[in-house]
Amino acid sequence: MNTLLRIDSSLRLNDSYSRQLGNYFVKQWMVKHPENRIIHRDLIKQPTPHLTQQTVNAFFNESLSSEDLPLSDELIEELYKSNEILISCPMYNYGIPSSLKAYFDLVIRTRKTFTYDNGIRGLLSGKKAHIISVMGGIYSSSGNRNPLEIHLTSILNHLGITDINYFPLEGTAAPDQLSEKTKLVETSIFKYLN
Ligand SMILES: Cc1cc2nc3c(=O)[nH]c(=O)nc-3n(C[C@H](O)[C@H](O)[C@H](O)COP(=O)(O)O)c2cc1C
Repeated sequence: MNTLLRIDSSLRLNDSYSRQLGNYFVKQWMVKHPENRIIHRDLIKQPTPHLTQQTVNAFFNESLSSEDLPLSDELIEELYKSNEILISCPMYNYGIPSSLKAYFDLVIRTRKTFTYDNGIRGLLSGKKAHIISVMGGIYSSSGNRNPLEIHLTSILNHLGITDINYFPLEGTAAPDQLSEKTKLVETSIFKYLN
């Protein structure tokens, strides 16, 4: 049995392209493996707090505590329990949503998800990640990754996750050809899973 951790971050609970593509991914993933399990982390319905100095101090010094440490532990445990991670991510003001950044600020934690032994070494190796990135404009060109994919790849690599699949949908601000573009992304998800 595999476990997929799904992380959603679009403010729009309805009519969001990233959430709709996330739904499509999960549906197809379950068709293929009906016995599998999903953990759903919705960062809008369950917001994660911003990092504080107290929490950073507690990350580095085990004798200190912080009120957000139990949540950090819980989020990290979800990552360890999962073999695959699906991130649905819209672009807000040229970057990832602050909710998703706040989530990663709580899980990128020394000794728990990475170490400094011989340079930085992520402790979550062996897991797969899937990034659904969605934005109003067009940012990738001639094979270059869009800014969301670049940022999320750096974060996942830091955690030791290097097996990453990318499903971008760019240009949602232009309604023409949007349904065709969405279908193309669904087709690439379908092909990947089948
Ligand atoms: C607050 C906000 C900021 C945005 N900033 C950008 C941006 O910098 N670049 C861009 O291409 N689209 C931007 N957009 C458009 C969204 O990326 C686009 O609507 C996308 O479809 C949102 O994802 P969703 O459909 O999953 O909600 C922004 C939208 C919002 C609400």
